[in-house]
Amino acid sequence: MKGVILAGGLGSRLHPATKVTNKHLLPVYDKPMIYYPIECLVNAGIDDILIVTGGNGAGDFLKLLGNGKAFGLEHVNYTYQEGEGGIADALGLAEHFSAGEKICVILGDNIIEGNIKEAADSFRAQEKGAKILVKEVHDPERFGVAEFDGEKIVSIVEKPSKPKSNMAVTGIYFFDAGVFEFIKKLEPSARGELEITDVNNFYIGDGTMSWSELCGWWTDAGTFESLHRASNLVAEGGANRMDK
Ligand code: G1P
Repeated sequence: MKGVILAGGLGSRLHPATKVTNKHLLPVYDKPMIYYPIECLVNAGIDDILIVTGGNGAGDFLKLLGNGKAFGLEHVNYTYQEGEGGIADALGLAEHFSAGEKICVILGDNIIEGNIKEAADSFRAQEKGAKILVKEVHDPERFGVAEFDGEKIVSIVEKPSKPKSNMAVTGIYFFDAGVFEFIKKLEPSARGELEITDVNNFYIGDGTMSWSELCGWWTDAGTFESLHRASNLVAEGGANRMDK
């Protein structure tokens, strides 16, 4: 399985901190944000990684990460998203890289305490389809939210005003190679973007979506409040610990 980190966007919710640089290069406690998703993939045994960047400071990723030696990698792949087409549009750029293999996709501003090794292993064994990781939160309206019927997820709604559960869909997704065909069928949402939630709903409709609950804390870091929280959580408890 290959790994894709989505690290584009204008980071407009973090202006002016992102006026001349990329959100994913900002520090989260003692490391640039992009370090955390790379470590998360490496800890799950995924060492063939594509970084999809965009917006400001794209060349700085190469300067910072090179070929990934600091993470024990032999090589890092990079690509560039033109414009602001959304998460699913950025993922579409990974088609050539994935070359028909399964992929683990992680949003570059998602930071977790534990690791995703077990979920990655279970998806390696899953015949086809997709898998998402969910987490109970107190502010579900900020996220994609899963609606359950018993143990089954029946739909995901992006940033609902009246959430049907407290289970947020985290920015860590597993997809088979069919994802690129789904992406080609997407229409832009009301905010003018191709939504990852619409991709996930395709798989739910197809009956091939599995899910599990993420262990340990999880946060995004795309707003000043969540970036601050992420730094505090890392400072207090570390991130991507191997024993979680
Ligand atoms: C994105 C996804 C959302 C998901 C979240 C996780 O939202 O659209 O479904 O719950 O990431 O961080 P964003 O915060 O990029 O708008």
